[in-house]
Amino acid sequence: MDRVGQKDFSFIQPKWIKLSTSIKLSTFANKTTMLTLGKGHFRPNTKLLDLLNRNFTLLLFLEHFGIDFHLGNLTVRQICQEQGINQAAFIAIGNLYNGILPEAEDPSIISGVETIIRFLRSSHLFYRNDKYPEIMEYLATLYEHHNSKDVILLEQFFKDYFQEVLEHLDYEEKVAFPYFHSLIETDEALSKEHYSASDYREHHTDIETKLEDLKNLMLKHIKIEGDLTIKRKFLNSLFGLEFDLKIHSMIEELILLPLVEKLEKQKLNE
Ligand SMILES: [Fe+2]
Ligand SMILES: [Fe+2]
Repeated sequence: MDRVGQKDFSFIQPKWIKLSTSIKLSTFANKTTMLTLGKGHFRPNTKLLDLLNRNFTLLLFLEHFGIDFHLGNLTVRQICQEQGINQAAFIAIGNLYNGILPEAEDPSIISGVETIIRFLRSSHLFYRNDKYPEIMEYLATLYEHHNSKDVILLEQFFKDYFQEVLEHLDYEEKVAFPYFHSLIETDEALSKEHYSASDYREHHTDIETKLEDLKNLMLKHIKIEGDLTIKRKFLNSLFGLEFDLKIHSMIEELILLPLVEKLEKQKLNE
């Protein structure tokens, strides 16, 4: 190859490198943009698969509704029609999972109280039958590997905490939800001395706050050497539980309670 050819080659190479770098950078930029993009609004014509691809925590949302993950091209409207779910309630809950607070109220949500309670009951089962054993199993594995007082302390803290969660869930399942059902099912006007939504509002506590203390025990105060994988899975599970409990409380306080209060007013005026 002559000097001109060499010159040409050395000229082309940096250009190729530059081109390749710019492709890589733009690909990376696109991926970053995808990760930082908003999670999207639930609307009647939105495809559920698109929403799920932007926010994988919606897997849990779907599970709480008993919806299979084989979503195909179904839109929010089609899924709700297929599954007999109140669309306004589905949209309001889905938007909470995407970080969007309830907007101007769709009047048809008033008939969605049953849908909301069904969703909440299903979440309760998830906390009892899925999350609790999962977290206890991680603690048991940690204890097997370390046999330390610190792990026993974590376990005791979690057991005590979960006992409070169970009391909270029991109260809702045995007292509050049956009362909400009765508001829909009976035509009788309520007496003012009756159990009411305001009792529920007063009784309702943030069950997820103590979970933060448990995470902090591990993140700030207790040091268990090694076992990063188990510790990551344990913490991941706690973060997951905390996230779902937060959304759960918001559904109860921002969506369900205002609806029940509205139903009460209607009944008292009958
Ligand atoms: Fe609940
Ligand atoms: Fe609650």
